[in-house]
Amino acid sequence: MDKTLQLQYREFASIDDLAAPDRALMQAAIGATANAYAPYSHFHVGAALRLADGSVVIGANQENAAYPSGLCAERTAIFAASAQRPEMRDYEALAIVGRDADGTLCEASPCGACRQVLLEYEQLQGHPLRVLCHLRGGRVRVLPSVASLMPFAFGF
Ligand code: THU
Repeated sequence: MDKTLQLQYREFASIDDLAAPDRALMQAAIGATANAYAPYSHFHVGAALRLADGSVVIGANQENAAYPSGLCAERTAIFAASAQRPEMRDYEALAIVGRDADGTLCEASPCGACRQVLLEYEQLQGHPLRVLCHLRGGRVRVLPSVASLMPFAFGF
């Protein structure tokens, strides 16, 4: 039997078209690119996670000479939030953006490992964590949940 998966998501032409809380979240992610430690890839990723109480926790990729020891911006953000505010493991939205070696803002989409990690927190809270990805040219893709990014995810 053939089956089909469909993904419904939104795309905005500009950050300015986002609702105010999402616009502020993406601006926080853009600001967080300055906190990246990326001397190897020169690709600076910023992430900003909005908690249910409206507070924002930022993350930025942290690299290491022993390459696999580094960590993506998305996981630094959600691990920091979970470690600092364990009573508030309730996440509304995550904005992410890349900044290349020239300083140009560009696309960032969560890698597979980050999707798996984000999914676990989404499942824990029992409601969707929206993901806002900055694209080239200033557009923004808004995904309705982490689960939508990771069908047939691992779990036990
Ligand atoms: N990176 C992130 O921070 N998030 C992603 O979703 C993909 C990649 C980082 C890891 C590494 O420091 C650099 O970008 C280049 O891969």
